[in-house]
Amino acid sequence: MKRIVLFASGSGSNVENIVHYFRNNSNVTVATVLTNKSNAKVLERCNQLNINALHFNRTAFYDSDLVLDILKTIQPDLIILAGFLWKIPEKLIQNFPKKILNIHPALLPKYGGKGMYGMFVHQAIKDNNEVESGITIHYVNENYDEGAIIYQAKTAISDEDDATAIAKKVQLLEYEHFPRIIEQVLLAQ
Ligand code: GAR
Repeated sequence: MKRIVLFASGSGSNVENIVHYFRNNSNVTVATVLTNKSNAKVLERCNQLNINALHFNRTAFYDSDLVLDILKTIQPDLIILAGFLWKIPEKLIQNFPKKILNIHPALLPKYGGKGMYGMFVHQAIKDNNEVESGITIHYVNENYDEGAIIYQAKTAISDEDDATAIAKKVQLLEYEHFPRIIEQVLLAQ
């Protein structure tokens, strides 16, 4: 049985989608969901989905080994950042080399880096009159959004699309491809 751990900071719609995808798969289990936000909607979703979820604060994440120790106990085959907005500490990256995946709501290397998350990305795409956007699934390294790219998918953007419409198009790509790519990476291990 492969174990995955999901990190999320907000709504958690990708978490829900990933949980549904693997629910009837006897080879993969979502061991736990970790969040840095005690009032994040993802916690409500986990409650409804009957999935373990834990909240940690900034001190626990950056100044203690609490999260590292939880992960060492679980021994996940993959750690998935599904809308997780804090930088991953180096000690986590060193302990889980090639085991941390992130999804970014744009076509990296464009529109990546600090501050580029969620609607900020889609608004920047709109402001620059881009004709396409998409998703990037990549390994996590010490720098925001710079790890090796595993998969990208594109969507066309028209003049009529505002940032919200772009977000919806990108979300559809996330729901379609993220669980599938996670499964592929697990199978290739
Ligand atoms: C997703 O669109 C994800 O790509 C993005 O946050 C959203 C989370 O949505 N991640 C980033 O911007 C990372 N830089 P969700 O909470 O509904 O899954």
